[in-house]
Amino acid sequence: AFTPRVFSGIQPSGGLTLGNYLGAIRRFVDMQESGIQTLYCMVDLHAITVWQDPDALRRQTRELAAGYIAAGIDPAKSILFNQSQVPEHAQLAWIFNTVARMGWMQRMTQWKDKAGKNAQNASLGLFAYPALMAADILLYHATHVPVGEDQKQHVELTRDIAAKFNHDYGVDFFPMTEPVIEGAATRVMSLRDGSKKMSKSDPSDMSRINMTDDADAIANKIRKARTDADALPGEPDGLAERPEARNLVNIYAALSDSDVASVLRDVGGRQFSEFKPMLADLAVAKLSPISTEMARLMQAPDEIDAIIGAGAQEARKIATPILEKTYDIVGM
Ligand code: ADP
Ligand code: NA
Repeated sequence: AFTPRVFSGIQPSGGLTLGNYLGAIRRFVDMQESGIQTLYCMVDLHAITVWQDPDALRRQTRELAAGYIAAGIDPAKSILFNQSQVPEHAQLAWIFNTVARMGWMQRMTQWKDKAGKNAQNASLGLFAYPALMAADILLYHATHVPVGEDQKQHVELTRDIAAKFNHDYGVDFFPMTEPVIEGAATRVMSLRDGSKKMSKSDPSDMSRINMTDDADAIANKIRKARTDADALPGEPDGLAERPEARNLVNIYAALSDSDVASVLRDVGGRQFSEFKPMLADLAVAKLSPISTEMARLMQAPDEIDAIIGAGAQEARKIATPILEKTYDIVGM
């Protein structure tokens, strides 16, 4: 039996979005308060699988740390760190590169989406991304990984890698990690296209709400969000064929700590002209304290660097013995 332990990460590949906040960070904060040991990471090694300007990467890594802290990750309760400062991630990832099979990687939908038709020109790191993610998780023997819907397949692959390692070496060393995908906003969609997830890497800034957007920007993006012309339904079934409407209601439910059915009991029958300003007010009320605190922290980069430097030391205390034992099992 493995002691319950939580790990998750976010790429510092751009500003944090509302999708990251509702699908990931809010869940991270909940788990931090559950009494289980929690480790949260800026996964910069993942970010560079697609080109990152070095100065932008440095700034975005600090900004992500500020976002975590401003949204409620408490460095006294959670280990908060930067992936590249714990070299054991890359070391274990290499072992897993020898365990994972090419065919497993080729089936990953994120690989297919991100490499697209130009796979020959994608980086080798982008292809191997899920093996590094497995290393992130298993380096701490993490039993639970809170993620958005889009990462479910990668957590399943992590289990496949753990199972094959355990089987090949005849050990019961790595746990079968569970994804934790909960809440009303496990998949926040683009505001411009109800078939695409909201992402920091979407070229259109109007497609997403950034955690650093001010009240005017948030209200403007919600006002311009694509919707249909019908009034809101009274119950969740009425959203089945209406992805854009469903997305806005999901966001409202998640921001108000409610669920879709209760929200629709209140707002069913209203037009978007009425609902959008309600959603904008709610989003501003919930997000502006976070963006204000992020801005304050960004004025104190030394404070951020000290927190994540200490976090890396703490993370290594767990990681080092697990990597050493892995090497021993492999015969190194
Ligand atoms: P991005 O897709 O914005 O680059 P990451 O790949 O760094 O984000 O994902 C970090 C975490 O945020 C993951 O747990 C991911 O599932 C979650 N996440 C990202 N986008 C969304 C979204 N639109 N809705 C819900 N969760 C999301
Ligand atoms: Na992602």
